[in-house]
Amino acid sequence: MEVVLGVGGGIAAYKAALLLRLMKEAGHGVTVVPTDNALRFVGAPTWEALSGRPVRTDTFTDVPEVSHVRLGREADLVVVAPATADLLARTAAGMAPDLLGNVLLTATCPVVLAPAMHTEMWRHPATVANVALLRERGVHVIEPDSGRLTGADSGPGRLPEPARIWAEAQDAAARAGGRAGREAAVTAAEPGAASPLAGRTVVISAGGTREALDPVRFLGNRSSGKQGTALAEAVLAAGARVRFIAGPMSVAPPAGTEVTAVESTQELLEAVLSEAADADVLIMAAAVADFRPAQVATSKIKKTDDGGAPTIVLERTPDVLATAVQTRDAGGPMAPVIVGFAAETGDEHTTPLEYGRAKLARKGCDLLVVNEVGDGKVFGQDATEVTVLSADGAEPVTRTGSKAEAAAAVVEALERVLASREAGGAPGR
Ligand code: CTP
Repeated sequence: MEVVLGVGGGIAAYKAALLLRLMKEAGHGVTVVPTDNALRFVGAPTWEALSGRPVRTDTFTDVPEVSHVRLGREADLVVVAPATADLLARTAAGMAPDLLGNVLLTATCPVVLAPAMHTEMWRHPATVANVALLRERGVHVIEPDSGRLTGADSGPGRLPEPARIWAEAQDAAARAGGRAGREAAVTAAEPGAASPLAGRTVVISAGGTREALDPVRFLGNRSSGKQGTALAEAVLAAGARVRFIAGPMSVAPPAGTEVTAVESTQELLEAVLSEAADADVLIMAAAVADFRPAQVATSKIKKTDDGGAPTIVLERTPDVLATAVQTRDAGGPMAPVIVGFAAETGDEHTTPLEYGRAKLARKGCDLLVVNEVGDGKVFGQDATEVTVLSADGAEPVTRTGSKAEAAAAVVEALERVLASREAGGAPGR
C-alpha cells in the first residue's frame, strides 16, 4: 500500500527511521513528510535514503504536481510519529501551515497518530481535549508508553516502540477494509508482520531476589537478568507493551518498558499480583528464592566473644508462579497465559526434560522454558540452551544460542498459544 509517514518535531523523530524501515521491509511505498522542526532532529537525507523518495516539507515545491492534495488523497494509510502536542493541536483545529498539515486535511484513509511529549503536556487539558476530539473523528491516537523521557523525568509520554506503532497502524488499516485493509491483512499473515502479541500487555519478572537476614545482609543469587531483558526486547519487537518487574540484576532494565523494582520474594509476589491482574501474559523469568530466613533481625547481627556463629533457620517463600496460576484458575484477576522457567539438572534416572515435564504439570502454567544448568551453564552467561514445553501438547522446541535466540523461541511459542486460543475462541485477550 501507499503510506505517508509524517514526522513531528520531537526528539523521538529518530525512532521514526526504524518505523520507516519496518514499513519498507513489509513491501510498502512510503513517502516521508516531516515538519520543518522534525528536520532539525533528523535531516532530509536520512529520510530520502531510507524511503528512496524525495522529501518535502512545504506546499510550494513541485507546485505543478499539486502534492499538497495528491499525497493525502492517494495514501492508503497515514502514520505520524512522533506527534507533538503542537501537531495534535493543529490537526484537531484543522490547520495546515505545511505539507503534513495538508496531507492530514485531505486524507480519507486511516490516520494513526503516535504522540510523544513530556507528561505535563500529555496531561494538559488542551492536549486531552484535542486527543478526545481526534478520536471522536475516527483518528487512531496511540497511547504513549510510560518511562524515561528526554530529561531526568519519566512518566507517560514516551513514543511507543516502532513495532507497536506499526502493529497498531496495520490493525487500523485492516479494520478500515478497502485496499489498505486487504493489503494489511495480507502482510499480517506474512512472517515479520503483525504478531498475535501486538497490542497485548506482557508482564515479565526478571533478575533474582534478596531475602534479608538483618538490615545489611541478605541471601541472594547470581541471576544477571539477561534472559528476562532479552525476552522483554523480543516481546517489545513483536509489538506488545512490557511491564518489567526487576529483581536485583547486573544489566540495566530494557528501554521502552514500565519498570517496577522489587527485592524480596514477597515484594515480587505483590508486584506480580497487581501488574499481571489485567495483563494478557505473565512470564516468570525471575530466579526466585525458594527459602528465606525465618527471622529477620531488626539490627545488625553481631559477632559474640565466644567465637560462635549463629544458626540461620530458613522457611519456604511463597511460590509466585503457583499463586498466579491458582488465582487465574479460581477466576481471579490474572493474565490468562502464564509462562514459567525451570533450571534443571539431570541425574542417572531422569533427564532434565523429564523433570521439566513433571514441573510443567505441577505448576499448571501454559509454557515452561527449561534451562539445563550446572557446570557454569546459563547463570550470567551469554549463550544458553532452552527447551520450551507446552501444556497443550505441542511438540517441545529446543533452541541453542544467544539469550536473544532463546527469547525468540519463547516468543514464537507464545504467539502459537495466543493464535490457537484466538482461533478456538478461548479467552486470550
Ligand atoms: N518461582 C516462583 N516463586 C518461587 C520459586 C520459583 O514464582 N518461590 C518460579 C520461577 O520464577 C520460575 C519457576 O517458578 O518461573 C521455577 O520453579 P521452581 O519450582 O522454583 O524450580 P527450580 O528453581 O528449578 O527449583 P526446584 O526444581 O527445586 O523446584
